[in-house]
Amino acid sequence: MGQVEIQGSKNAVLPMIAAAVLVNGTVCLKGCPQISDIDDMIKLFEALGGRVVRKANRDIVLDGKDIHSVKVEREYAGKIRASILYLGAILGRMGEAMVAKPGGCVIGKRPIDQHIFQMKNLGYRVDEKSGEYYFYSEKRESNVTLQLPYSSVGVTENIILASVLGNQTVCVRNAAIEPEIRSLCLFLKKAGALIEGIGTSELMIHGVHRLKDVVFEVPADRIVAGTYAFAAMSTGGVIELCHVPVNELECVMKLLLRLGAILDIREDSLTIVAPKVCNRIGYVETGIYPGFPTDLQSPLLPVLCMADGNSVVCEKIFENRFGVVDELNKMGAKISVNGTKATVFGKSRLTGASVLAKELRGGAALIIAGLSARGESQVSGISYIERGYEDIVRDLRFLGADIEKITNGETF
Ligand code: UD1
Repeated sequence: MGQVEIQGSKNAVLPMIAAAVLVNGTVCLKGCPQISDIDDMIKLFEALGGRVVRKANRDIVLDGKDIHSVKVEREYAGKIRASILYLGAILGRMGEAMVAKPGGCVIGKRPIDQHIFQMKNLGYRVDEKSGEYYFYSEKRESNVTLQLPYSSVGVTENIILASVLGNQTVCVRNAAIEPEIRSLCLFLKKAGALIEGIGTSELMIHGVHRLKDVVFEVPADRIVAGTYAFAAMSTGGVIELCHVPVNELECVMKLLLRLGAILDIREDSLTIVAPKVCNRIGYVETGIYPGFPTDLQSPLLPVLCMADGNSVVCEKIFENRFGVVDELNKMGAKISVNGTKATVFGKSRLTGASVLAKELRGGAALIIAGLSARGESQVSGISYIERGYEDIVRDLRFLGADIEKITNGETF
C-alpha cells in the first residue's frame, strides 16, 4: 500500500553511456539509477580512457575527450550484455574497434551475429580470433540502406551509434521502436545529431562532424514500474507509481485490467487497485514494443499462479526465458513449460522456500512470489536483481512488505 517513485531506466541509460564516447565534450545524465549494470558500463567507459564523475544526486557526468583505446576488454564484456553497444560507439569515433562476446543474463543464446552483419553492411570488415572481433573500416559508401531481418533493440542502437558521426547517410528499415531507442535518438539529437523518423521503424541518420556537450534527463523505467504493479497484483495491494512513463505501459495496463485491477491513470502516475483474486488470463504473449515486454514475463508468472484459473504465457523474444519456473514450482507454483509456452495453473497456494535467482527479471519474480507466499522465503543470487533494481528492498518495504536484505549474515 502506498506510493513509490520509479527509478531512471536502465535500458535507456546504458546506450547513452556508450554514446558519450562520441561526444566531443561532456555528457550529463540526470537521474541515473544506482544499479550495478550502470557501474559496469561506467567501468568500461573508464577503461577506454574516459572520465566519469558521479554526483550524490544521481547525476553522472561523462567526459570522453581522452578516450584512446579501441578495445572492449573481455573481462568487462563478459559481465554485461550492453558492452556490445560500445562497438558502434567506438567505430563511430575511431573507425576501428575490438570487442569480445558480451555476457549478460542467461535467458537464451543471445548471439551477436546481427550486430556483426550490420556493421559489415555499414562498410566495416571483421576478423575473429578466439571470441574477439576486430572491426576496421573498409569501403564506406556515402548512402547505405540497412534492412533488419527482425527489430532487435541492441542492433538498432549499435547502428545509430555507428552512424551519427561521419559522412554517411544511413537508412535503417524495420528498426526497433522501443521507447529506449527514441530516448537515445532524442539524446543524440540534443547533442547535435541529425536523425529523422525518431520513434518509427524507419530511421534516417545523416552523419555530422561533431557532437557537443549535452545534459539529458533519464526517463523512468517502464520495466521497474511494471514489476511493482505485479507485486501489488500478487498481494491485493493498492499502490501509486509516481514518475512513471504511462504512455509506454499501454499493453501492461491492458493486462492489469484483464487481471481485474482498477487503474487511475494520470499524466505521470498510475494507481493500481488490485482485486482480492486476479482473473485468469486465457493467453498472453510477449512481443516487440508496443507488445507485452519480455522483461515483464517472469514477474507476471507469480500473479498468474494465484489467479482464479489457468493461463498460458508464450515467450516470443528469447528462446529460454522460463528459467525461473523451477524455482517458482519449489514454492508451490504449478507451471509446466513446453518450448516457448508455459501453462500456469491458477488457484495455487505459494509457500515460503529458499530459492535462487539466476537472472535479473526472474529474480524479481521470485521476490514477488515470496511476498505473496505463506511463510518466509529466502531469495539468494540477489546480485542479479541489483543489476536492474536500485533498491527493491527499500521500495517494497516502503509499500509495507516484510522484506530485508541479508549481507554476510547481517540484515539491512
Ligand atoms: C534489449 C534489452 C532487454 C530486452 C530486449 C528485448 C537492453 C540493455 N536490453 O536486449 O532488456 O529484454 O531488448 O526487448 O536494452 N538476436 C540475435 N542476434 C543478434 C542480436 C539479437 O539473434 O545479433 C536475438 C536475441 O537473441 C533475441 C532477439 O534477437 O532473441 C531480440 O533481442 P534484442 O532486441 O537484440 O535484445 P537486446 O538488445 O539484447
